[in-house]
Amino acid sequence: MNLLITGGAGFIGSNFTRYIARKHPDWKIIVLDKLNYRGRRENLLEVEGRLKFHFIHGDICIEGDVAPLLPGIDWVINFAAETFVDRSIMSANDFVRTDVLGVFTIMEAMREHSPEGRLLHLSTDEVYGEILKGKAGEDWPLAPRNPYSASKAGGEMLVSSYINTHNFAAIIARPSNNFGPHQFPENFIPLFITNALEKKPLPLYGDGRQVRDWLFVEDCCVALEMLMEKGELGEVYNIGGGEERENILVAELICQELGVDKKAIKLVKDRPGHDRRYALDSGRLASLGWAPSKPFEERLTETVRWYVENVDWWKPLKSGEYKEFYRQWYGERL
Ligand code: TYD
Repeated sequence: MNLLITGGAGFIGSNFTRYIARKHPDWKIIVLDKLNYRGRRENLLEVEGRLKFHFIHGDICIEGDVAPLLPGIDWVINFAAETFVDRSIMSANDFVRTDVLGVFTIMEAMREHSPEGRLLHLSTDEVYGEILKGKAGEDWPLAPRNPYSASKAGGEMLVSSYINTHNFAAIIARPSNNFGPHQFPENFIPLFITNALEKKPLPLYGDGRQVRDWLFVEDCCVALEMLMEKGELGEVYNIGGGEERENILVAELICQELGVDKKAIKLVKDRPGHDRRYALDSGRLASLGWAPSKPFEERLTETVRWYVENVDWWKPLKSGEYKEFYRQWYGERL
């Protein structure tokens, strides 16, 4: 099998690349990544020396970066995206470009250069908008409510349109909130773990009662591999951890895990347009044989331990550009 993994140096992409490289040593893997602030070459150290691994520095929005990599590729797995909601509120430019134009560019290049290739496109549960009651099935209407989720919805609607009009071979995956090793320390769980380790306050938005459906990143990788093997082309699949937790509970668990006083949790001004709850019905994927492997609390403990043991990985990421973002975004909140 020959894979092109776009965005393979980011959080979910690098976890997937390492997982596939371990499991299928005979598969050829090309990672294309533009190495934005979240794309880290060091996330791929484990696979760098491997014979059938190639890293290419490039941008999915540039056809000349994508096209030469496509001949002979069986699957393109597209993780490349701008993903952090708060940054999309501050400026949505890069989101529209990468999450919409990038997807279009990949598909156009594939139609010309790998007509036999298939696309596994990563979308998000956020395309449904907030889900106050019940769990979203794949047939629910898309109702994104922030610039990030709207861009992701735009990208995946283009994929659907190519499936419909060009008989384009693609599967769309909509995972819920991923967490685990190598997540950039701006997302909720790694931000709270690393802030707690640095003895900084933990800025909890609004009343802290928002709910996310947590999915351990390795379970997500297993699901994606399963979709390549058994998924139906042209279909959409939810990947939900089925582990709904209020943010405040997750924050308290992190404090407990690290022996930090819960007073470190500070309720701060809410994120504008904050979606109250996400929850997915993953029955379609479960019917292929997938289920999360361990309870959320166990995976959270493992994740906390990873950040405790990998200070050298995250510490530098919290300086420089991130520090400026933190000052701008949290300055008035904290
Ligand atoms: P986040 O990791 O940004 O993911 P999502 O895309 O689901 O918003 O945030 C997860 C939840 O944590 C979300 O409800 C917002 C909340 N949150 C805070 O309360 N404080 C923070 O500083 C951050 C980054 C997130």
